[in-house]
Amino acid sequence: MEREIFNFFTGLLEKVSGISYQTGKEYLLENRLKELAISLGYKDLRDFYEGIRNNLKPQIINQIVDTLTTNETYFFRDQHPFEAIKKNILPELFQKKAQDKTIKIWSSACSTGQEPYSIALLILEYFSTYISTYKINIYATDISETSLKKAKEGIYNQIEVNRGLPVTFLIKYFKQEGGHWRISDDVKRLVRFEFLNLLDVENKVRERFDLILCRYVLIYFNRDTKTKVFKSLWNCLNNGGYLLLGATEIPPISLPDLEKKTFGNTIVYYKA
Ligand SMILES: C[S@@+](CC[C@H](N)C(=O)[O-])C[C@H]1O[C@@H](n2cnc3c(N)ncnc32)[C@H](O)[C@@H]1O
Repeated sequence: MEREIFNFFTGLLEKVSGISYQTGKEYLLENRLKELAISLGYKDLRDFYEGIRNNLKPQIINQIVDTLTTNETYFFRDQHPFEAIKKNILPELFQKKAQDKTIKIWSSACSTGQEPYSIALLILEYFSTYISTYKINIYATDISETSLKKAKEGIYNQIEVNRGLPVTFLIKYFKQEGGHWRISDDVKRLVRFEFLNLLDVENKVRERFDLILCRYVLIYFNRDTKTKVFKSLWNCLNNGGYLLLGATEIPPISLPDLEKKTFGNTIVYYKA
């Protein structure tokens, strides 16, 4: 791909979403953008670039960002963090919140929904007695409209349900429709999906949460953006709340009220 075109699209993507596309990944960017260009009726990538560069509308910007995000996810990703949520974090939160009886959880880059639904499944399966007495709210956000649409539908193909989801959960909480599986309304009811750019957390999110997941998304940001997003998420945590990153990720900064705790193989960040 011509450097001028590569720089235009990577510059736009980084400005809008924080995602840094490194040189060497041109082929990935080129294939994804070509597909979008053709679907929008442009002849090729140059034609697309010429057509939009001086007339960038919000809708096309969203489509470009959507096309260039990596939405890889699966149910109970890495397993052990969900063990920690089940065995350590949720029991502690239910106990701690016995007074106000409200638990707020946020999956902040939820992709196609498997992450927030995994937590909802744990709650339904192991903490069902609390459902009638506590207000349990799982907020799930992402920048990709296409991913969010799929998440809201809650319909997964055979390969997707084979990745990480225990078969007992599949039988109990999903309904087969042809070659696909639809998640039950009981699970869906616990989760609220919304569009949110992590770069806007500081200005747009007023709620406070007891557990925040920010998994496998900071890896796409440069150091300054990582720090800014991490700090803004940390400010959305209640005291005594937990933040979970991807299994291979670490906080980009240290903060006075940030305590590292280990539950089994999982490292979590506790707001003291
Ligand atoms: C690799 S997926 C990870 C999904 C899930 N957290 C997991 O661990 O399985 C990364 C997600 O981050 C989202 N994302 C990237 N930049 C974002 C931003 N600035 N704001 C919100 N979501 C973003 C992408 O759309 C994508 O769905």
